[in-house]
Amino acid sequence: MIIARTPEELRAARDALGPVSFVPTMGALHAGHIALIEAAKAAGLPVAASIFVNPTQFGPKEDFARYPRDEAGDIDQLEKAGCALVWLPSADIMYPPKSATSIMLLGPALHWEGTARPGHFSGVATVVAKLFSQVRPATAYFGEKDWQQVQVVSRMVADLCLPVEIVPVPTVREVDGLALSSRNRYLSPPERKAAPRLYTALTRAAQDILAGKEVAATLHHARQELALAGMVPDYVALVHANTLEPISGLVRPARLIAAAKLGNVRLLDNVAVG
Ligand code: PAF
Repeated sequence: MIIARTPEELRAARDALGPVSFVPTMGALHAGHIALIEAAKAAGLPVAASIFVNPTQFGPKEDFARYPRDEAGDIDQLEKAGCALVWLPSADIMYPPKSATSIMLLGPALHWEGTARPGHFSGVATVVAKLFSQVRPATAYFGEKDWQQVQVVSRMVADLCLPVEIVPVPTVREVDGLALSSRNRYLSPPERKAAPRLYTALTRAAQDILAGKEVAATLHHARQELALAGMVPDYVALVHANTLEPISGLVRPARLIAAAKLGNVRLLDNVAVG
């Protein structure tokens, strides 16, 4: 596996490898990231991954400083997973001192995580656009766990005419249903036990909506279930799967999305409806 830390090393790797599939990450890799690598590998092109904990997508009170970092362990996992290249840029390479450009988003970035975490999607879109310009992949793989992020990135790629195909990959879950996330390690044992109830509440709500139950009452019931599990729900919403606009009745494609605080951890999850 080629390890590139400078633009020159990345350019040499690109020349050697030709077209690549790309998996951008912030490190702290788990089986969800490896599923992205596996999906990318299955499509046939050599796979490039990046590791960069992007400061601009964290709010001032968020966990940038304590976000888990394990470069050596991550490189080892990428190598074992069959990655051809890992791009490890420094903060100065991604944001040189005179940087003055960031991406402003509307549409799918407006609500939900966009409201709860002001500036988050602008940070994500800006770093992803930079990574795409550096790596120049043919395809890029993103986990459906961050459903809104996938829609925001897809919208940005379409709007900026970027020559990359976005491929969403289904969420990888623990056996009890909890969606894998680098932040799950912050859960205490009792919180870890309660955490899968987010997925349970969402799947039950999706079934109820499909069975014709009233949407508002179903969402209210799901929020109650989360509160009973010790969570503080931020939102539980039925949305158009691509625009992320809230919908009050079942219009396809629809997605149920939710965020809830459990202790100090913000859990995110989503399921398809139909
Ligand atoms: O999903 C993530 O890990 C990050 O938001 C991403 C896409 C790597 C951008 O920093």
